[in-house]
Amino acid sequence: MKILSIESSCDETAAAVVEDGRRVLSNIVASQVEEHKIYGGVVPEIASRRHVEAISGVVKNALSEANCSLDDIDAIAVTQGPGLVGALLVGVSYAKGLSFATGIPLIAVNHIEGHIAGNYLTHKELKPPFLALVVSGGHSHIVNVKSYTEFEVIGRTRDDAAGEAMDKAARTVGLPYPGGVNLDKISQNGDENKYKFPTPHLSTGKYDFSFSGLKTFAVNLVHNASQKGKEVSAEDLGASFIKTVTDILTKNTMLAAKDLGATQIVLAGGVSANSRLRKKMAEECEKNGFSLFMPELKYCGDNAAMVGAQGYYEFLSGKRAGMDLNAVASMSITEEC
Ligand code: KG4
Ligand code: ZN
Repeated sequence: MKILSIESSCDETAAAVVEDGRRVLSNIVASQVEEHKIYGGVVPEIASRRHVEAISGVVKNALSEANCSLDDIDAIAVTQGPGLVGALLVGVSYAKGLSFATGIPLIAVNHIEGHIAGNYLTHKELKPPFLALVVSGGHSHIVNVKSYTEFEVIGRTRDDAAGEAMDKAARTVGLPYPGGVNLDKISQNGDENKYKFPTPHLSTGKYDFSFSGLKTFAVNLVHNASQKGKEVSAEDLGASFIKTVTDILTKNTMLAAKDLGATQIVLAGGVSANSRLRKKMAEECEKNGFSLFMPELKYCGDNAAMVGAQGYYEFLSGKRAGMDLNAVASMSITEEC
């Protein structure tokens, strides 16, 4: 079965054709990064306008690259939320229009569940149950994935998401948006033990995270150095910051996996592209005897193929969306589409 999938939750207009939830026939991503760069982050109004301009062409390209016409498509999957509401609405409205005009069934997909499903594209053998660490610009969750469509969030960030924290730390050392990627690059040769970041302690929520204190610590480091006429090393600060975030994420995931008796660990979301996180996770999973699954780099950041993968399993479970489908900016992972 072939699904045409659409993703427009943030600053990427994306469409894909995915067969049986696992085989990617096309995966088109039109990024707006360059446009948002001068503002230091995503400007929601600009994002919505660019989605409107790009979406028809992106969908057409996805169909033609897959050698398909709409007659070959069995369902249309679209990201319903979470994300920027004006951006989401473009994809949702386009998908609804297409479904209404053609009679092709419509499926709503949760963006975070989509990130998890991105792993099905890389690892054909991967099946739930497993434990997923989803780390993106807007979310950081430890999720007990009970089946393809049953999720339980067992750990979450109390403040900043891991990607958001990376982006803010990058800004303190003058790196342009998208900060996380640039921080990863420049910190490759940095000394990860140069700056001792505090490890936040939470009195409740065994698997929860908190990253905003780390960001404040980074800001203070840079500020104090500049008052003394000195400069911090961006390479070392980046390496030390990423090490601290990575250690926290990995420690909580390992703890949750042991408590739950999980044997498979899945990494997902934009931050899963981070080289230190991938390495640390691999080391810890090997040490603890867990099988680790990580998406290929092209499926870490936002894309529509992951939406097609999750859409397939939603379709099999009988879920369908109607013409009353609306975008939901702060949709939780367990919320019914
Ligand atoms: O999943 P995603 O593409 O969008 C959201 O759903 O939020 O994640 C974007 C986040 C950004 O904060 C970006 O800086 C971060 O992922 N990111 C990285 C890397 N690549 C992307 N953070 C650290 N290292 C990377 N290599
Ligand atoms: Zn995302």
